[in-house]
Amino acid sequence: LSACGGNGDDGNTEASGDGNGNGEETYTLAIGHTLADTSHYQEALLEFQDMIEERSDGRIEVELFPDSALGGERDMIESVQLGNQEMVLTSTGPMSGFAEEVTVVDLPFLFRDHDHAHGVLDGEIGQELLEKLEPTGLIGLAWWENGFRHVTNSDGPVETPEDLAGLSLRTMENDIHMDAFRAMDADPTPMAFGELFTALQQGVVDGQENPIPVIQTSRFYEVQDYLSLTGHVYNPSILVISEEVYNSMPEDLQEILREVAQEGAELEREIVQRMEEEYIESLKDEGMEVIEDVDLEPFIDAVQPVYEKYSDVFGEDLIESIQNHE
Ligand code: PAF
Repeated sequence: LSACGGNGDDGNTEASGDGNGNGEETYTLAIGHTLADTSHYQEALLEFQDMIEERSDGRIEVELFPDSALGGERDMIESVQLGNQEMVLTSTGPMSGFAEEVTVVDLPFLFRDHDHAHGVLDGEIGQELLEKLEPTGLIGLAWWENGFRHVTNSDGPVETPEDLAGLSLRTMENDIHMDAFRAMDADPTPMAFGELFTALQQGVVDGQENPIPVIQTSRFYEVQDYLSLTGHVYNPSILVISEEVYNSMPEDLQEILREVAQEGAELEREIVQRMEEEYIESLKDEGMEVIEDVDLEPFIDAVQPVYEKYSDVFGEDLIESIQNHE
């Protein structure tokens, strides 16, 4: 990006001008994400932008690019890896091609609730998972959140795994999610998020699954009739910076970035919680039929083969230490 800042020697990390007037280098960080400008990502990133600019005394400037303006999540992760884009806020969905270990969090029904997820991710396990990104040229600054994912579709109410049979359902480009829906006899169709609204509108797929704030702010209620609160997978996000860009910054700014990234995570999780509470009602007002009391046991039973398959990949110990985390 031409807006790139930094003091590196290569074309991508040029210092932006001659600094902030005090002779100090300034850095411009472009952050891309796929969600709407009314989303939880954007609302929290706006706060992040203010906090960073203030705490760095104007030495770091943040530019936000919502709505897949810089591409889909996988494309943006690649650009960040190459140092062509400074930062991305991305779900773990497309991470398997970069650092497979990180996608252990994508196992269905792994986390009991938000507190369980936050405890694991903000603790030692979460830190170790973020470190797995480093050899790939990416630095995970903090675990943010997309939320618990729920199924929507236009065919009929989904109350049992049998109701998913044969349903063509857009999933993220994530093998674990696809295996989970295959285990429930659905027909998972991976697709970049930016193509999803039109695919639903044109009937290319019957349904999709995403957290409540995404369903509302991406206006899926316009093209989907039923929402089932399956909460089948907790979907964290990671605020990622290019290692090359990060290393070009002085230590005090690196510290500010890490600090504000974690504060931003906490703020963003509150926004998600508020939106989850408010938007179920708005989705009903928009005409969606919401199936609230889904009996999850049959769904949990149906996805057990996914655990058998992936316990070799991630190790049973890691999976159990996440499940047993208080
Ligand atoms: O469905 C997805 O692809 C993800 O939930 C999204 C919207 C990109 C958020 O990270």
